Amino acid sequence: MTAEPISPAEPPKDIPADEETRAGNYFVSNYPPYAFWSKDRVDEANAAINRPPAPGNPLGIYVHIPFCRKRCHFCYFKVYTDKNSTEVESYLDAAVHELAIYAQKPFIGGRKPTFIYFGGGTPSYISSSQLTRLVDRMKALLPWDEAKEVAFECEPGTLTEGKLQAIKDLGVTRLSLGIENFNDEILLANGRAHASKEIGRAYDFARSIGFPQINIDLIAGMVGETEANWRDCVARTIEMQPDSVTIYQMEVPYNTTIFKEMKVFGQSSAPGVASWKTKRGWVEYAFAEFEKNGYTVASAYTAVKNTSPAPFLYRDLLWRGADMVGLGVASFSHVNGTHYQNDHEFESYCAKLGEGKLPLFRALTPNADERMIREFVLQMKLGSVRQAYFAEKFGVDVERRFEAPLSRLRDWGFLTIALDSLHLNRSGLMQVDKLLHEFFLPEHSQLPRA
Ligand SMILES: C[S@@+](CC[C@H](N)C(=O)[O-])C[C@H]1O[C@@H](n2cnc3c(N)ncnc32)[C@H](O)[C@@H]1O
Ligand code: SF4
Repeated sequence: MTAEPISPAEPPKDIPADEETRAGNYFVSNYPPYAFWSKDRVDEANAAINRPPAPGNPLGIYVHIPFCRKRCHFCYFKVYTDKNSTEVESYLDAAVHELAIYAQKPFIGGRKPTFIYFGGGTPSYISSSQLTRLVDRMKALLPWDEAKEVAFECEPGTLTEGKLQAIKDLGVTRLSLGIENFNDEILLANGRAHASKEIGRAYDFARSIGFPQINIDLIAGMVGETEANWRDCVARTIEMQPDSVTIYQMEVPYNTTIFKEMKVFGQSSAPGVASWKTKRGWVEYAFAEFEKNGYTVASAYTAVKNTSPAPFLYRDLLWRGADMVGLGVASFSHVNGTHYQNDHEFESYCAKLGEGKLPLFRALTPNADERMIREFVLQMKLGSVRQAYFAEKFGVDVERRFEAPLSRLRDWGFLTIALDSLHLNRSGLMQVDKLLHEFFLPEHSQLPRA
């Protein structure tokens, strides 16, 4: 199906933008934006769960482990630092119960998961025996023998050798370490629970026991970051030779400790956080260094080692419309074309599952045009999209459909249009999350606060 181009060309709204790091969400992780999902559309999620799947669409499972040793000052995820072991146990029971309900629903349609993602929060916070029991119970409900990727996020200070071995034994194929920075003063100033000495220890042991892929997360522009220190972080990461590195530009969403402090002191920009221009420069520097050292830039945030080209199915399948059920408090799901999110309060999440009900909180079913925009903006984060993919899957000529925003991006010097692909250059890729708003429908360009 084709549709008219979104809107006539407008003059650049915000390029060059205000470059201060102010409070707000920068990262685009889905479309239409979460603020447009609503409680009164939860029936759509129930209907989607009760329909058989689209033929051939893969299934993924996301498991949210919302516990951390400390809350980092920049973190915007749903996390708890005060839950005792009984509460952790009842949470894990609830997540298993949630999967048990899903396992009986028509949308499963006999599928086994292709990818599984343990995210957080900090999945490595929970004990080895809790992890093993959780995974055994999950596998009994939906076998993992067809899973091509099991990804697992860790905070380095939570990893002992025993814990790492237990994680490996679960079948984890992609271990992701939240290193963020190598400097103890910066780690401390940002409220990280780990110290630099824990990084090498965890990484070396993880390497020695043979995880197929190890990813390192870094953040460009943590409070107190300097040019010299950033260069040192990049050099140390290259020395470690991870299979992939993910670099986020520091953002300061409204639910962070940093924002709360900004409010108290009446500050409009985040103190000690570099400007967006500086952060882009830092990521560009890092990517150039990785390229000199045998890595390829695979998206706006990742470089992958050429000798171990690390696929990332969770990202690649989700960004192409795969189904994914999110287990856990505040988790996001995408099933049979409907987006939905779980209850975002620990107690009500557990209580609903205790009553045998799915803890659905808000939902939205994008129309065909919105589904196409979703995949287009997500795939743009990879740096290029193929027109043929959108013609085949949605019957849409994206060059015509996005004529106005594409010519804006081209005029600003960020985009080239080739016969088979639309390609962002490095400068465009460094600010892709800002540019993606150009492709949003007008009704989604002004965000209500979520
Ligand atoms: C769930 S955490 C990873 C696992 C573990 N909780 C940890 O922090 O080590 C996901 C990643 O999001 C990134 N992140 C969190 N808050 C951020 C922010 N405000 N700006 C940029 N990146 C952020 C960090 O790189 C972090 O590693
Ligand atoms: S960044 Fe990671 S460790 Fe820090 S609070 Fe967020 S989820 Fe927890």
